[in-house]
Amino acid sequence: MKEKKQYYLHTFGCQMNAHDSEKMAGILKGEGYERAGNPEEADLIIYNTCSIRQKAEQKFYSHLGRVNVIKRKRPDIKIVVAGCIAQQEGKNLFNGRPYLDALIGPRNISKLSSLLDSPFPVTALEENNIFESNKIAVERNGRVKALINIMYGCNNYCSYCIVPYTRGREKSRSLNKILSEATALAEDGYKEVTLLGQNVNSYRGECSFPELLKHLDKIPGLERIRFITSHPKDFNDELIDAVTETGKVCEHIHLPLQSGSSRILNLMNRKYTYSEYLDKVNRLCKSIPHLSITTDIITGFPSETSDDHQATVKALKEIEFDGIFAFKYSPRPNTAASAMNTQVDEDIKSERLAEILAVQDVITEAKNKELQGKTVELLIEESGGSVCIGRTRTNKIVTISSYKKPLIEGTVLNAEITRSLKHSLEGSVL
Ligand code: 5AD
Ligand code: SF4
Repeated sequence: MKEKKQYYLHTFGCQMNAHDSEKMAGILKGEGYERAGNPEEADLIIYNTCSIRQKAEQKFYSHLGRVNVIKRKRPDIKIVVAGCIAQQEGKNLFNGRPYLDALIGPRNISKLSSLLDSPFPVTALEENNIFESNKIAVERNGRVKALINIMYGCNNYCSYCIVPYTRGREKSRSLNKILSEATALAEDGYKEVTLLGQNVNSYRGECSFPELLKHLDKIPGLERIRFITSHPKDFNDELIDAVTETGKVCEHIHLPLQSGSSRILNLMNRKYTYSEYLDKVNRLCKSIPHLSITTDIITGFPSETSDDHQATVKALKEIEFDGIFAFKYSPRPNTAASAMNTQVDEDIKSERLAEILAVQDVITEAKNKELQGKTVELLIEESGGSVCIGRTRTNKIVTISSYKKPLIEGTVLNAEITRSLKHSLEGSVL
């Protein structure tokens, strides 16, 4: 019999969710819980869910059979659904699932301990009750890199996207809270911070986002600063200047394009045309040498024609991204695009996705090859046993194949790229 109560926490979805789970783990640690290795051993099971696409939802639903079995054997355990599906579905989730005990939305995480003390079933799905992580020790997943919220929610209402409905309206966190969290992380030995927001360029705390980067750049001990995600409509020259002027902000930008067709971009409510996007990318590349750019692409958005799709293929070839995340369009509840009567066949979405991925594969491989023989700066992220992994400032993972001295996690060093494979790089420490 274990002395402490055990929790099992399974996270789906984005970095925002990963960080929310770190906060929940911090709260549970404060309540005297320990992390369990599997759900069968736990007194409390939490699923932190994602509803961005139907496939992400299905992953969660496919776990429920197992928890139902566990609960039948041990009726005293508690099962909580957190995150975006909890917020989206609300109490409907309880229908036909008597084994679920509690629902907690992304804006209510701070209520986790009081929720667990309430009579079940119980929900915490209210709006605008943002958790402030300076109040509770966050139980972080690593010791080298850390996630920091700079804002919550989203006001953009891209017509395909569920996030404004699950994470609510945009709210910036105060500059002081962000700076004190980053300073404490640096004092604890963290070398890299990633600033999180659905649309970081619209940060409106006591300063603008470019100014925030300049403040963070001054924190002693931090080596690298990253941020996700940027919206192309708000990406301006002030930000480009901030990236060039700050030594710690890495030369990598994730700038979701979504489609190369301006007609589709308009239907997506993205508020930029392809040529405006291209113009920003050109300005970025001119000002920031060795910049790496990654993007998100959606295939088969309602009414997408073969010509629209080919415009996306052309965009990939023209811009030559370092990497892409591509997805089939998935209709989401409440969104404007799900109500459009021009939905594209699933087969066509799949064909287009395959073509997009094949086109990008050739580009990624060529870009990796260009790096062969080059010297890059690596932050060592893992150095367990015989495997050692570092990351370039441009966000590429390098497996270290040869080194003279043992490498310590958190060290920054130079390495030569000795081999480039289709999806990975190998390096040797100089
Ligand atoms: N269907 C497919 N992809 C989507 N994304 C967001 N909503 C949907 C959807 N309904 C993608 C976008 C976004 C990324 C996080 O997920 O490309 O940038
Ligand atoms: Fe993250 Fe969006 Fe998924 Fe919510 S729906 S977890 S915000 S990706």
